Amino acid sequence: MRKLRISFLKPGMTLAKPVYGPDGQLWLNAGIKLQARYIRSLEKAGIKHVYIEDPLLHDVPLDEVVSQKTRIIAIKAVKETIDSMQRGILRNGGALNNRFIFAVERLIREVLENQDVIYNMVDIRYTDNYTFNHSINVCILSLLIGCGLSKKRTFLEDLAVGSLLHDVGKIWINESILKKKGSLTPEEIAEIKKHPEYGQEILSRYNCIPAASIGVAVQHHERYDGSGYPCRLSGDDIGLLSRLVMVVDVFDALTADRPYRKALLPHEAVEIITSSTKLYDAEMIRCFLNHVAAFPIGTCLRLSSGELGLVVKCNRGFPLRPVVRVCKNSNGAFYKEPYDLDLTEKLDIVITEVLSDEEREKELPLKS
Ligand SMILES: [Fe+2]
Repeated sequence: MRKLRISFLKPGMTLAKPVYGPDGQLWLNAGIKLQARYIRSLEKAGIKHVYIEDPLLHDVPLDEVVSQKTRIIAIKAVKETIDSMQRGILRNGGALNNRFIFAVERLIREVLENQDVIYNMVDIRYTDNYTFNHSINVCILSLLIGCGLSKKRTFLEDLAVGSLLHDVGKIWINESILKKKGSLTPEEIAEIKKHPEYGQEILSRYNCIPAASIGVAVQHHERYDGSGYPCRLSGDDIGLLSRLVMVVDVFDALTADRPYRKALLPHEAVEIITSSTKLYDAEMIRCFLNHVAAFPIGTCLRLSSGELGLVVKCNRGFPLRPVVRVCKNSNGAFYKEPYDLDLTEKLDIVITEVLSDEEREKELPLKS
């Protein structure tokens, strides 16, 4: 299957994964042939990508750490919880509602079941709820890395709750600042930098939220070398959960479109993180690299041999050297039989170019 931008969809293409609406209801099932009116509805709903059957990748599984259904359940639960925090409603004497607890349990269960899956950025981001998608992504990837550190239930629960609510303090910041497209004034930057402390204040009102989770809200912008905020903590004075979440938080933020810049590609974000060794705990970077695909499945690459292909497998621990299905030779002609090249076994070949979606559709068009 291939992740395809809505603008590239054509009637007759076959949907490879179901599409759900924002409330978790099934809109279009896998296997359905797209019609022009379905494409228009997807566009209208603000959906940016869908998964389409691709004969070139027919045998390539695209495993998800967490199902789309669970993501939607979690997004709704977080939204509801943050809404009630915004309105200052404390239910059951400050307890988290059952839907939130159910979502946390479901996320932990699915991550534990799929802990061998490499995080492939396979989610479909909706346009209008960056904050909630971001919370869920940070939670899933943090849990995936976290369950390699400890499988203790309380550790994973603290991590899940902390990562889902790490940015809750932003509800006290004016939306006009958060959504501003131009550059921020020094006063506005100072205000945004208060969100960790606001988060601590909000979460401390709920007697059921573990101290370790509140720690994630207040410490996720600290940096290992002491250059972060709000307290300029350094090294292991920063809690373990926060040292983990800060890496994941940066990765997800860099790979998402923001009002002030376009999303970076996953390998660009990986490069930024791995070259900022002073900022993060080296052990957390190592764990992060073990679980993340710098070149997600379906990425179109040009190799130093001049050949062109699609990523079909990510190699654990070697995020920059995936297995590539080579489809075109150095003259730009299609191979009759594409072949799989494992870049961990061919060290003399390097990736020279990552093609954009437009370039990929030009070079290796998907036949409807
Ligand atoms: Fe934050």
